[in-house]
Amino acid sequence: KELREIPAPRGWPIIGNVAQIDQNFPLRTFGEFADQYGEIFAIRLPGGRKINIACSAALVPDLSDETRFKKNPQGALEQVRNAVNDGLFTARPNEPNWGIAHRILMPAMGPMAIRGMFDEMHDLATQLVMKWARHGPSYPIMATDDLTRVTLDTLALCSMGFRFNSYYTPEVLPFLKSMGSFLQESGRRIGRLPLPEFCYKSENEAYFNDVKEMRATAQGVLNERKREGPGGRKDLLQAMMDGVDKVTGQRMTDDSILDNLLTFLVAGHETTSGLLSFAFHELLSSPEAYRKARDEVDRVVGSGPITVEHMSQLPYLEAVLRETLRLSAPIALYTVEAQDDTEINGWDGKYSIPKGQPVSLLLTKVHRDKRVYGDDSLEFKPERMLEDKFNKLPSGAWKPFGNGSRGCIGRGFAWQECLLIIAMILQNFDLFHFDPSQPVGIKQTLTLKPDKFFMRAIPRDGLN
Ligand code: HEM
Repeated sequence: KELREIPAPRGWPIIGNVAQIDQNFPLRTFGEFADQYGEIFAIRLPGGRKINIACSAALVPDLSDETRFKKNPQGALEQVRNAVNDGLFTARPNEPNWGIAHRILMPAMGPMAIRGMFDEMHDLATQLVMKWARHGPSYPIMATDDLTRVTLDTLALCSMGFRFNSYYTPEVLPFLKSMGSFLQESGRRIGRLPLPEFCYKSENEAYFNDVKEMRATAQGVLNERKREGPGGRKDLLQAMMDGVDKVTGQRMTDDSILDNLLTFLVAGHETTSGLLSFAFHELLSSPEAYRKARDEVDRVVGSGPITVEHMSQLPYLEAVLRETLRLSAPIALYTVEAQDDTEINGWDGKYSIPKGQPVSLLLTKVHRDKRVYGDDSLEFKPERMLEDKFNKLPSGAWKPFGNGSRGCIGRGFAWQECLLIIAMILQNFDLFHFDPSQPVGIKQTLTLKPDKFFMRAIPRDGLN
């Protein structure tokens, strides 16, 4: 293949391309650049930093080769370290706490452990059903808010034995408020003009107050466990407290436990709530897919209680989740860094990446690559994600959970939780957009979620 130069939109001295980037929705700007420049382009940020943005599925296999490219938190993710330091999600390549935590926590997130969490997931999903049933058919349900409540409560209960009880608070919890503004500001901080720090005094104060609020919540969870003891639980938090790393013989320090508790609270519910919200939105916008999904639930589960055995018998719902993640990956961009000077192969040529330079994979484009998914790549069609077709996708065409050793540790957790919640909601309600004439937008913090997505839920015959 011919070696090509990576195109770059023209920017300004010092500030680079920052003035061109929509600060509330950088992904929109990146998408526009992709339409203009093709499968890869480069942008410059203040301070002369250059980031390459990869947009085609062809580039992904090279970028997924962990001997040549490694995750090294950049941009907004580097800022997130202000709250969680070297926790699993934000650790730099050679930080030892990553390996210790990874090896100790993998088993606590393995298939058997997740199966064992089913009853607690079921308990909280039932509370969501009860809440929506009480609202009655004409109430505008703020779907994303309620789904965020259920995913936060589920994550905290299953992995830490902690009950947030966020259904019972009409207001958004202070933890969630802080997290939302912290993540948004983490994104904004990278686009800041290089002015003296005092120009950002009030932003900085609010930002570090949010950090305090979030860390206090995690500390509260840890204190409660220390006070009450495990009470027979063998969950993620207990693994953090008791686990010994077989490679180094070390335990997780209290600081590392706190960093990772917070990491799980943040990484484990925003993303899942985004997936659930987008999935309901897609189903409501695609009557045929909705009918097939509900038929599957009626056929497999019927009107009785949903059990853990049902979870492996819902292939169409799984395809709905995969297709939703293809079109609306909640983490729409992740970044790796070249370990040495190297080249990556695209559809249209190959490109050289110097040592130390970051490349971000823009999933909103990679997942819509027409050369993989065809001319209807923008359409929601769960059929293309049924098991046999899904298994034949070229490597690199579907990466919503990231890559390799730095891929998502909570994938199985999210999968079981989402299957259960969607199945239970479809079993119990007929769903409608609250006002079909109102377009649903997208909101970007660190993750993507639908914005202003209201639903109506009408109970079907008899609740389960
Ligand atoms: C990593 C996506 C659910 C915990 C990641 C990454 C992605 C991702 C893309 C890699 C990010 C990068 O390379 O920078 C998702 C999606 C989810 C989901 C789409 C839901 C649909 C969860 C859940 C948990 C979780 C439920 C916790 C129970 C983590 C952690 C990491 C991670 C701790 C860092 C892993 C490491 O680097 O060692 N996730 N995630 N995620 N995820 Fe998830």
